[in-house]
Amino acid sequence: MGASTSHKNRRILVTGANGQLGKAIQAEAIGMDGISFIYTDYDQLDITQKDSIAAAINAFKPELIVNCAAYTAVDKAEDETELAFHLNAYAPGLLAELCKERDVKLIHISTDYVFDGASNQPYTETDRVNPLSVYGQSKQKGEELVMAAGNAMVIRTSWLYSAFGNNFLKTMIRYGSERSEIRVVFDQTGTPTLANDLAKVLLQIAKFTHIYFVPGIYHYSNQGVCSWYDFAYEIVSSLNLKARVIPITTNDYPAKAKRPQYSVLNKQKISNLLGVDIPHWRKSLMECIEQLQSTINP
Ligand SMILES: NC(=O)c1ccc[n+]([C@@H]2O[C@H](COP(=O)([O-])OP(=O)(O)OC[C@H]3O[C@@H](n4cnc5c(N)ncnc54)[C@H](OP(=O)(O)O)[C@@H]3O)[C@@H](O)[C@H]2O)c1
Repeated sequence: MGASTSHKNRRILVTGANGQLGKAIQAEAIGMDGISFIYTDYDQLDITQKDSIAAAINAFKPELIVNCAAYTAVDKAEDETELAFHLNAYAPGLLAELCKERDVKLIHISTDYVFDGASNQPYTETDRVNPLSVYGQSKQKGEELVMAAGNAMVIRTSWLYSAFGNNFLKTMIRYGSERSEIRVVFDQTGTPTLANDLAKVLLQIAKFTHIYFVPGIYHYSNQGVCSWYDFAYEIVSSLNLKARVIPITTNDYPAKAKRPQYSVLNKQKISNLLGVDIPHWRKSLMECIEQLQSTINP
């Protein structure tokens, strides 16, 4: 369990900290004054185990827990329903109950896949949820249990990518360099989100909980709209990779889990709360590509 060494009063604990969002939080929190961070993954704090959660709360007395732990294998979840619900629903529910009992604030992350995609207008927080996949259903149940326990902000996000872990950006860079063509669906529309941008928002809330910690459901993604095809096209063309990007339909590329055709999120509520300008996905993509290039060619 990694905690910063200084003895500051305010303590924030991050679960699932070795995942993509957890790593983005670690990167963005560097140099942040006035807060001690405790970064845990499941071998230090297993969110499915009551004793493990209780021990961590007792040891570190965090003011806030940011739950980045999850089961995120969308297609695999179709065959691992029990495990997906265990991690994405019952464990966050348990975490939320313990947080409530011990007066610890909780931020829990959810997904655009709680929607069925039948809309053609950006989804607001009060729109009806109707997940199409086991992953989406497990995340939706998680939201419900976390909200029922109280004292929590649930932030739904979409299409996360970053310089960390495996994600669509990295896959497209690899395929774009190795293959002559890449076929990508153009009939699923949403918004890519740089995990670092979401991390900055989480850190703003963490830094000023007395102002910005307001329980409820929120949406956060980058600004703008595109299909997976457009996202891939932008990646391949901005890096001058050799592959040709070919648009295909979801029917041409059957996946185990059904995804929403349209899952753009309306971000007005969080932007009003935090007073932030949300970056456009293209701008954030360029930043992330530059970051990746500077690590390859420092
Ligand atoms: N990725 C996306 O495109 C996307 C889109 C919308 C919403 N979200 C949501 O955003 C959040 C962060 O996603 P992410 O991409 O950062 O996920 P991720 O990279 O899969 O990270 C999840 C982390 O949780 C850990 N974990 C698994 N079981 C655990 C347990 N029992 N206790 C503690 N930690 C455990 C995982 O460890 P192991 O890897 O060792 O199992 C992993 O380090 C999730 O809630 C996800 O549903 C993601």
